[in-house]
Parts: sequence; C-alpha cells; structure tokens
Amino acid sequence: MKDVVENRKRIGSTNKLRLAWIALRENGPVWCFLLLIYYTASTVAHRSFQAQDGLRKRRHIPGLNSPTLNKAIWETWDWSVQGDEWTQSPQWKDSVRHAVLERELPTDADFLEIGPGAGRWTEYLLERARRYEGIDISNSCVEYCRNRFGDDSRATFTLGSGHDLVNVADNSIDAIWSFDAFVHINATEVEGYIGEFARVLRPNGVAVIHHGGVGGAMGGWRSNLTAKAFHDMVCKHGLLLERSFDQWSDAGMVHTVAYGDRIAVIRKSKVEAR
Ligand SMILES: C[S@@+](CC[C@H](N)C(=O)[O-])C[C@H]1O[C@@H](n2cnc3c(N)ncnc32)[C@H](O)[C@@H]1O
Repeated sequence: MKDVVENRKRIGSTNKLRLAWIALRENGPVWCFLLLIYYTASTVAHRSFQAQDGLRKRRHIPGLNSPTLNKAIWETWDWSVQGDEWTQSPQWKDSVRHAVLERELPTDADFLEIGPGAGRWTEYLLERARRYEGIDISNSCVEYCRNRFGDDSRATFTLGSGHDLVNVADNSIDAIWSFDAFVHINATEVEGYIGEFARVLRPNGVAVIHHGGVGGAMGGWRSNLTAKAFHDMVCKHGLLLERSFDQWSDAGMVHTVAYGDRIAVIRKSKVEAR
C-alpha cells in the first residue's frame, strides 16, 4: 500500500480519476473512503517530514538525536528481544557477523564497542576478545549487558557521556565496533568520538562504524550526519577511511543497510604521527 503513496507522481491526474472510479466499482465506497484517508494522511505525513527535516537543517536544531534525547529514549526502551527488532532477517544477521564483523575485525584483540544496547553483537565480539569494553549512553543498557555477560571476566560495561571516551586510555584498543548507534548520533557528538578514536586506538587499530549517510533525509530516526561530513572528520583527525559501503555480497546474496546508512572501516596509521 505504501507504493500507492510513494509512486503517486508517476500517475497523471486523469488516470488517477479513472483508477479511483474502477476501485470504487470493484471495492465499494467504504473501502475507497478508508483508502482516501490513508492516501491523504500519508501525503500530509510525507510533507510534514520534509518540512521538519528542512527546519532542523536551517535552524541547526538536534531533532530527536541530541545526547539528552538519545539517553531518555534508550533508558526506557523495551530490550526484551535484545535488539533483534532491527535484524532484517536471520540470514542478514549471520552475514553482518561473518562477512562484516569477522572479516574486518582482528582476533585475540582488545575491543571497544560503542552503544552495545542489549548486546546483539557483543557475544560475537567476545568470541574474538582478549579484553572487551562496552560504553553506552544508557544506564539500562549497561545494566542489561552486565547481567547478560557478567560472568565473563574479560568484559566491562560503562556509562558514557555520549560524545567522548574519557575513561579509555591512550593507545589501548585494537578494534572499535559500533552498529546501529552512530546512525542516531548527531555530527557534533560523532566528531567528539572520532577525535577519541585517534587517541585510544593502537597504531594499525581499526574501527568499524555503521553510521548515517544522508543527514536523516530517508527517515529511520537518523541523525544529521552525512557520509561526506563523516569522511571529512575521519581525515581531520588523521585517520584513514579504508572503505565505506552500504551493501555487500555473501554466499550469492546481496545484503544492505537501510535509510541511506553506511558502514565505514577506519584505520589508524601503523606509525604514530610525531
Ligand atoms: C538502536 S540501539 C542499537 C543497540 C545495539 N548496538 C544493536 O545493534 O542492537 C542504539 C544504541 O546506541 C546507544 N547510544 C545512543 N546514543 C549514544 C551515544 N551518543 N553514545 C553512546 N551510545 C549511544 C543507545 O543507548 C543504544 O544502546
């Protein structure tokens, strides 16, 4: 049904009237009235979204993605399905695990995860970890993960400010992973984190970050971050953007991230800059 609204510009007015007449004949007035409500409401919703997005850009307001709102939202989230509400399919999750996480991240390494939520990816990181630290802006996530993974002495979970890694030592991390968290974080706070990556990563360390790419223009509660702004920040802080992709092939299937998102593979140079 969404297609009826999204493709409305592809059908001329005369044709729309003709189609409406056929629909009325075949389905009756009640069904057609309900369709009209849906059609009108969707059009209004679409225009409101565009106006709201424009206002956010013009006035530089944070939308739903400020640290305060992120904290408030995720503190009260229902974590009963442990983040799998964002899993597109079991095959997709397997592929993120094997063709992204395991392909890009080292083994026997010191890991940092930003925004672990209820630990959807944490169990896979722990399989490869010498030491693991999860930092989240939400206390309920920290508590959830402490309960879920508390028996593992290599793992610690701490509450973060939402824009820095003050409690993480310089040159102490081999790999950083963050999925479905940076998509919700505005550019100012993302830049805070990227500056910190340059500090906490060891030489040749890697960060694999799923982030927003189109400044929220495709919906999905995304932040104002764009792929270009992200790339510029990475370069500004002396890191290398090795790769950035929004789809990948695995066992004959193509998998994607939604809403114009990207997955970035960032590397710190092997040699410390003087
Ligand atoms: C959509 S959930 C994803 C959770 C988990 N990574 C997953 O994939 O299931 C977003 C997570 O990012 C965290 N988060 C949001 N803003 C953050 C910020 N500025 N710093 C750290 N964590 C943040 C939230 O608390 C939440 O745990």
